[in-house]
Amino acid sequence: MITEATAPGKIILCGEHAVVYGRPAIAVPVSQVEAKATLNPAKTGFRIITPDLLRDYRLDSAPTDDPIASIINLTLAQFDEPPPNVTLELTATIPLGRGLGSGAAISTVIVRVLAQFFNQPLNTNTVSDLVFEVEKLYHGTPSGIDNTVIAYQQPVYFVRGRPIQRLRVKRPFCLVIGDTGVVAPTLLAVGGVRERWQTNREQYEGYFDEIDGLVRQIRVIVEQGIGKPSALGKLMNENQEILEQLGVSSPELERLVQVARQAGAWGAKLSGAGQGGNMIALVEPAQANTVAHALYQTGATGVIISQVG
Ligand code: MEV
Repeated sequence: MITEATAPGKIILCGEHAVVYGRPAIAVPVSQVEAKATLNPAKTGFRIITPDLLRDYRLDSAPTDDPIASIINLTLAQFDEPPPNVTLELTATIPLGRGLGSGAAISTVIVRVLAQFFNQPLNTNTVSDLVFEVEKLYHGTPSGIDNTVIAYQQPVYFVRGRPIQRLRVKRPFCLVIGDTGVVAPTLLAVGGVRERWQTNREQYEGYFDEIDGLVRQIRVIVEQGIGKPSALGKLMNENQEILEQLGVSSPELERLVQVARQAGAWGAKLSGAGQGGNMIALVEPAQANTVAHALYQTGATGVIISQVG
């Protein structure tokens, strides 16, 4: 029997980094990209194949710091099962290490495919909790937003340590997501903010409070569908300014943000850990192709047009 599982990517609409320090953030799944796990019975051992990473190895000889082996072992422990004789193939159209949640999505599909294999359904919260354990191992001090939005596959208003709050989107909106092509490990960006916060607590807590205020306003606009869409864009621009002050932006991100605004976007900002990875632009749907084209012309390595809600 072949078993299969998929999970979407994600973007952070607003509140990244501040969310690590207890402030709220909003994230939405991106269904245009996905991670996929396929499990086939095999004769001996647990084999892992990742064509995107050009890896083919056995679970029992995986390095101790291997994130894929870690989530497999955690899931097997959850079921109290020894490693079965299978081949696990992992593929992803989510670009790796670019703020679209590739790590959490890969972990999620591994948990789900093993749950199917053992015929032991897991509720979404347990899936999210297992993925969070691996996020902690490899991302330093994650807030838990990535595993939550990807496991639940729904827009979320997220506060660290609190039960999930689904975000109802009253008036759908359109985002253009542009990839700088720069790989930026979350661990480094989050670690950098922590170092600067440690030496400059008052200033950084002030930045986080400002972001907190923006996220709450964005939540009201999104959930109540009030005001002009340009009001949401303006708040995203303000969020970008604070992210620049936090030191997590980059020249590549700022170039794409600038070009998106010039091409007619209501607002644009980096999304995720920053220092590379992806940016998002809020656009009128009729303007989406123009903004996408402008981003490509400026060097974006990938562009996704995504409707939220
Ligand atoms: C990463 O998608 C978002 C960050 O806020 C880190 C986290 O919340 O764990 C940068």
